[in-house]
Amino acid sequence: MKTATIYLDTRRTISDISPYIFGGFAEHMGRCVYEGIYDPKSPLSDENGIRRDVMEALKELNFRSIRYPGGNFVSGYNWEDGIGPRENRPVKRDLAWRSIETNQFGTDEFMKVCSELGTEPMMAVNLGTGSIQDAANIVEYCNLEAGTKYSDLRIQNGSEQPYGVKFWCLGNEMDGPWQVGQLSAEDYSKKAVQAAKAMKLIDPSIQLIACGSSSSEMNSYPDWDRVVLEETWDQIDYLSMHYYAYNRDDDTGSYLGYTRLFEQHLNTIAATIQYVKAKKRSKKDVFISWDEWNVWYREMNGNGDWQQAPHILEEVYNLEDALVVAQWMNVFLKHADVLKMASLAQVVNVIAPIMTRTDGMFKQTIYYPFLAFSKHASGQALSLNVLSDTYETRKHGAVDVLDASASFDPEKHEGTVFLVNRNQNSETTTEIVFQSEAPRSVKVAYQLSGTDPKAQNSFEDPENLVMHTIAAPEVKDGKLVLSLPALSFTAVVLEF
Ligand code: AHR
Repeated sequence: MKTATIYLDTRRTISDISPYIFGGFAEHMGRCVYEGIYDPKSPLSDENGIRRDVMEALKELNFRSIRYPGGNFVSGYNWEDGIGPRENRPVKRDLAWRSIETNQFGTDEFMKVCSELGTEPMMAVNLGTGSIQDAANIVEYCNLEAGTKYSDLRIQNGSEQPYGVKFWCLGNEMDGPWQVGQLSAEDYSKKAVQAAKAMKLIDPSIQLIACGSSSSEMNSYPDWDRVVLEETWDQIDYLSMHYYAYNRDDDTGSYLGYTRLFEQHLNTIAATIQYVKAKKRSKKDVFISWDEWNVWYREMNGNGDWQQAPHILEEVYNLEDALVVAQWMNVFLKHADVLKMASLAQVVNVIAPIMTRTDGMFKQTIYYPFLAFSKHASGQALSLNVLSDTYETRKHGAVDVLDASASFDPEKHEGTVFLVNRNQNSETTTEIVFQSEAPRSVKVAYQLSGTDPKAQNSFEDPENLVMHTIAAPEVKDGKLVLSLPALSFTAVVLEF
């Protein structure tokens, strides 16, 4: 048996938690949009072809923003192909995923989905094959009231009111050799600045996200980030980070210690932002938008063989993946001062918490930690002191068995502690010591756990692993003691 002690003080805050760290990402890729969100052939879809079961699950996950339409897809996408009467929309080859794009789902359909979900759309513009004018035109289409070519076109297409899209990504992964229209950091920055100027002349209220490195494994990392920050600083509000985690060597112990790599990456980018800020003697802040993050390694085939909605990727997640996702979200809270947006890549199928087929869907293991954080992490992120036993890993040496983060929301009189027991073999007895006010009680506690790190959900067994409520432990003498089972994620919601 292992032990850990957490010292929690509600006065020791890191920062407000931005709601936009609970964002998602929907790309025209594989079966994310087609057969995921939009599936007119399914008996589960409404008269507009939108999957009702998927919408219910998306509502539950409560994504505060959804990034769209890509991803790599956006670098070859002409947004004008996806608007207007459906019968007039062209069928094209999508070069990013080598698939057929029918354009039956586009900007207006996406906006309707966001409006029903109550989520902010986060639109990416094409800085690969697209022009600066195209980027300005889509802002005009989405955000101007009326009286200009593109705003009137939106009205003609059935949307009287402007969409008021706040968040705009200046392209996607423009450092990637796989990207149609790949650019050097200098050339990307020039194009991004020109696009930003044009887009802000149309709507000065928009917030812009510049492309950071597509991965920390790129040779250009982190110089790309520095150059882009230096060149685009005055125009942008966020720099993007993309990162996918994997367990390619089938080494569960090291995989569960992955947070070190997340934090290293995040700290490098945060330091680069501070460096550029200091160099420029700037008063403004630029924050991090971790707008692609997830586990992704089993299904890497991006060749859609020129089919519509090809079955590419279709990653099925297991318990250890869910524990990595939970720890990733712990990192989000621990760095809430610099991280203000994040988008889980993606929302349906491909690499996502929801998997569909025509007649149903199931919730993947990673669904549950996202749900717990999205529902309960609000207010301020707390800086915890955690003293934990460790275990040895091949890749990272000694790693704490317990990983934790916490939020405190004075308005709701609520706080939540998020705990991952990385120990594969035994429980970890965890004592939470409240150093300031102690909570009155535990409102509810949820847990996801299992004995097999490879256990998954499937269409045949959709509830093999689900998060369930556990008996609420008692707060006694300013302390709370929990027995966390091996390989578990627990969220304890406290009433103050
Ligand atoms: O999310 C899948 C893909 O991963 C995105 O299209 C791209 O930006 C990244 O490489």
